Amino acid sequence: MSGLKIFLDTHPEDPVLETTNADVITRELAAIGVQFERWESPVTLSPDDAPEVILEAYKPYLDELMGAKGAGSADVLKLTPDNPNAPALRQKFLSEHVHTEDEIRFFVHGRGHFVMHLHGRVYDALCEAGDLIAVPANVKHWFDAGEKPFFTALRVFTDTSGWVAHFTGDDIASKFPVA
Ligand SMILES: [Fe+2]
Repeated sequence: MSGLKIFLDTHPEDPVLETTNADVITRELAAIGVQFERWESPVTLSPDDAPEVILEAYKPYLDELMGAKGAGSADVLKLTPDNPNAPALRQKFLSEHVHTEDEIRFFVHGRGHFVMHLHGRVYDALCEAGDLIAVPANVKHWFDAGEKPFFTALRVFTDTSGWVAHFTGDDIASKFPVA
């Protein structure tokens, strides 16, 4: 189930808020400019479906979202535990970083944590199938899908070059390991 834990960035042990209520997650994240929505799947998709099938199934949602965001492209990223690049991919986004464009993801299958850090707080959003999250440009964050990552996510880009990670050099992510 989707969830949100909010911590003071000085207190990793002790969340000040913990919820699995989608309305509360949406409201708390909206307060920091992070968009969170749940989408009903238009069809039942299998993790084995080809990227084109997944993109086509979500086309009505994507067209609306991309129109609203002025986004130019979308693709499908699948990660499974048997992918030999999984550890390297995990490591790549596990430290606090920013991008020069919004990071927009929709989870078709599986799960992953987007963890945002701002205003002295850490927001650990567990995203699951059916969840859309849009982390604004320049908001400090990291991503972790654990040691055995399993997810299929739609990625929406305004400019793929903007998706390069700029690391802040802060080791805060290591103090907030996701469950
Ligand atoms: Fe990122």
